[in-house]
Amino acid sequence: MQKVLLPFDGSESARRALQYLVTAARSYPGLEVHVLNVQPTIILHVDYLSMDMLKKLDDGALRHGAEINAEAIKTLTAANVRCFAHETIGEVIGEVGKAVKDLECDTVVMGTRGMSNLSNLMLGSVASRVVHEVLVPVLLVK
Ligand SMILES: Nc1ncnc2c1ncn2[C@@H]1O[C@H](COP(=O)(O)OP(=O)(O)O)[C@@H](O)[C@H]1O
Ligand SMILES: [Mg+2]
Repeated sequence: MQKVLLPFDGSESARRALQYLVTAARSYPGLEVHVLNVQPTIILHVDYLSMDMLKKLDDGALRHGAEINAEAIKTLTAANVRCFAHETIGEVIGEVGKAVKDLECDTVVMGTRGMSNLSNLMLGSVASRVVHEVLVPVLLVK
């Protein structure tokens, strides 16, 4: 575990994944953590939005992602863990897979649950799809 991708949505479970990494960093001195937040694409079925307005929507989404990531970056930085924030817009699974490849991460560390609060599910939909679709080991933190 050297270069980790932490998909981060600000949920309690994702925060526990973050804390797990803070502790694990003591055993992995060269650990590098890439924090990724993915914001959904906003699809508007109207034709009066200018490119400028669409860009403003994207900018707002990326800013929101950066605010969520800031918490993780603050915690990791305070623990002296080398870390980087990434915000993207799109579909979460695809963006996680792309980040693993592009950033050459060897492990994904993430929460089992997220923000959607479907307490009858044992594993959130993003978590279970990442386990199936990513080729590197996935560490799920409850
Ligand atoms: N939009 C997102 N951006 C980055 N990471 C995410 C996002 N959504 C979920 N995750 C990651 O996936 C984990 C599991 O969440 P998820 O499967 O979405 O559960 P739920 O269905 O309860 O929302 C989270 O703890 C977080 O690590
Ligand atoms: Mg979710």
